[in-house]
Amino acid sequence: DVRRVTAADIAARKGGEPVVCLTAYDAPTAAILDRHCDLLLVGDSVGMVVHGLPSTVGVTLDMMILHGRAVMRGARRAMVVVDMPFGTYEESPETAFRNAARVLAETGAQAVKLESGRRAGETIRFLVERGVPVMGHVGLRPQAVNVTGGFKAKGRTAGERAEILAEARAADAAGAFAIVVEGVAEELAREITETVAAPTIGIGASPACDGQILVTPDMLGLFDWTPKFVKRYGSLKPAIDEAVAQYAREVRARTFPEPAQVYRFGSGAPAGAEA
Ligand code: KIV
Ligand code: NA
Repeated sequence: DVRRVTAADIAARKGGEPVVCLTAYDAPTAAILDRHCDLLLVGDSVGMVVHGLPSTVGVTLDMMILHGRAVMRGARRAMVVVDMPFGTYEESPETAFRNAARVLAETGAQAVKLESGRRAGETIRFLVERGVPVMGHVGLRPQAVNVTGGFKAKGRTAGERAEILAEARAADAAGAFAIVVEGVAEELAREITETVAAPTIGIGASPACDGQILVTPDMLGLFDWTPKFVKRYGSLKPAIDEAVAQYAREVRARTFPEPAQVYRFGSGAPAGAEA
């Protein structure tokens, strides 16, 4: 029986071997990632990279629960964390708890992540004290895109850097077991990492963090455009494009299906024998 990585295991990785994280949205992909990752995040990025939304603001709790359940069916060893989507945790700690409890109960995932501004500490503490492990998320917070005006790296001014450090301190003091740091320069990522007790998980935040995460379809090369911080480890888009082009050619030429893919009952000959 495989023992699943826990929030306590991740928290204990501070300053140690880097924590390997990726996003996951479906069972078969999660099963592959599970062989290599410590933590799988069912990110609300699902809205953009799977459902084609222009931002993560339109993602619902039901979408997160559906994808969370799929990922839990595929991942056996990695810790699975589910993003709280926009509108499900900001209003009050009580609302956040009710929705987070639904996520844990209906998916079987062990923890939630929420984009945490300076004032999210109260909510994080409320959840952690009631049995919901929480991952914070500071710096570039995609759910705030309508306020900040775009997906731009953060911490260009001293005031902004102080604000992001305060966000990280707030999540840490409130008991977050890990903190995602997104879209900041190396100097700030190092300062946050040296300041907080929780491991920092960087995305566009330099190697100074205690771990790294990327949006899986981005790093697998499913899209033409990706942010600067994405390294492509695969070429899914051309691979899918070539496979589908060949299929279309063969269907049009009637060379697919071949005998090996055709059922033949009662002829006495094994399938494919007439090829
Ligand atoms: O939604 C997401 O995929 C995320 C990661 C990029 C950290 O929040
Ligand atoms: Na997210």
